[in-house]
Amino acid sequence: MRASILLAGLAALSSSAASRPGKKRLIIDTDMLNFDDDPLAIGLANIFQAWGQVEFIGVMSSINSRFAPPAIDAINTFYGHPDIPIALRKPVNNLTQWPQYPQYGDYLTGLTYNFTQDIQDGVYTPDPVSSYRYLLSTSADSSVTIAAIGFFGNLYGVLQSGGDAISPRTGAELLAAKVGELVVQADERGRSFNTGWREGAEAAAVLNWWPGRATFAGDAVAGATVLGRRLTAEPDPARHPLAYALRRSIGPAAAHPVWDAVAVYYAVCGAGDVFAPRYPRGGRVALNASAYATWAEPAPAAPPGPHNALDFRLPNDTFAARLEDTLLWEPGSRVPRERTWCKN
Ligand SMILES: *[C@@H]1O[C@H](CO)[C@@H](O)[C@H](O)[C@H]1NC(C)=O
Ligand SMILES: *[C@@H]1O[C@H](CO)[C@@H](O)[C@H](O)[C@H]1NC(C)=O
Ligand SMILES: *[C@@H]1O[C@H](CO)[C@@H](O)[C@H](O)[C@H]1NC(C)=O
Ligand SMILES: *[C@@H]1O[C@H](CO)[C@@H](O)[C@H](O)[C@H]1NC(C)=O
Repeated sequence: MRASILLAGLAALSSSAASRPGKKRLIIDTDMLNFDDDPLAIGLANIFQAWGQVEFIGVMSSINSRFAPPAIDAINTFYGHPDIPIALRKPVNNLTQWPQYPQYGDYLTGLTYNFTQDIQDGVYTPDPVSSYRYLLSTSADSSVTIAAIGFFGNLYGVLQSGGDAISPRTGAELLAAKVGELVVQADERGRSFNTGWREGAEAAAVLNWWPGRATFAGDAVAGATVLGRRLTAEPDPARHPLAYALRRSIGPAAAHPVWDAVAVYYAVCGAGDVFAPRYPRGGRVALNASAYATWAEPAPAAPPGPHNALDFRLPNDTFAARLEDTLLWEPGSRVPRERTWCKN
């Protein structure tokens, strides 16, 4: 996606969505670098878009690597969605792996150089806060679902933003009005990677404020869904970006938890036959200054709380097999319309 056509692309996306009221509009906020699960999450959103389940309207990167946007664009392009807007914070850097996690191989440069994409370099992408503000302000009330599968600096920036040329409304007003559900890949209790490893103060500011529905896809579901043996072995990794990324990250014929893909499955399909809310009356998350989360249930006479967390209703291996089957779907293959699950 060229930066020059960004606004045209955004306008086309928002008008096509306007003609289809009721379909969720999905924004993914990702820390895709060298972990296995972010490419699968982005691939899954593309597959659900191809199946007509969701309007996948944007990707925000919560890291600064110049290779992240072209790699994300390579995945979107493989699935036939080369113009989904992708935003990255600046200044860009050249990171291809977390230095703390060298056991997971680099796939960003391979996706950038050996797959079809037209961003080339993250330096050409727009700013995530402006992109959020644009996408939110052009969406119907409560129509947007945000899958927060990375860090919280972008959402914090939106929350801090005031009215501007994009919208007279503050970021807080836009988030409260436009977002129907925030899906967080983290636990609602204790410390989690996405809410605490980096930008914990930003995660605390966003989540302690979040007035609407927020659902935590944590270790009980997202950490207990393990797959990859088929995806690393069956598709040709020179052609299939998810097979390529997964093999580079975890190796061939391997399986691994796929946290973020589980969060995106829920973000699109809802609880369905897979998940059950953990708290019948909901509650609220509160993060302290060390990004340690505690959970508060509503008082007996109080209304239900807006936050919740997920447990499995299905056995995890049944869900993992379904998710891996779905991730093996390729453009041009038959869409499995007879399925009973995820029909939006
Ligand atoms: C990234 O790599 C390019 C090309 O090798 C180099 O010119 C640039 O200085 C590097 N940027 C950073 C932030 O290290
Ligand atoms: C791109 O593909 C070529 C040819 O297969 C290979 O030699 C090269 O290592 C690949 N580059 C990356 C960054 O994976
Ligand atoms: C946050 O809570 C954890 C768990 O109770 C505690 O260990 C930590 O010291 C707290 N941090 C702050 C800054 O209060
Ligand atoms: C199911 O969960 C168990 C316990 O967390 C885990 O050891 C196993 O790998 C999981 N299986 C699948 C297929 O996700």
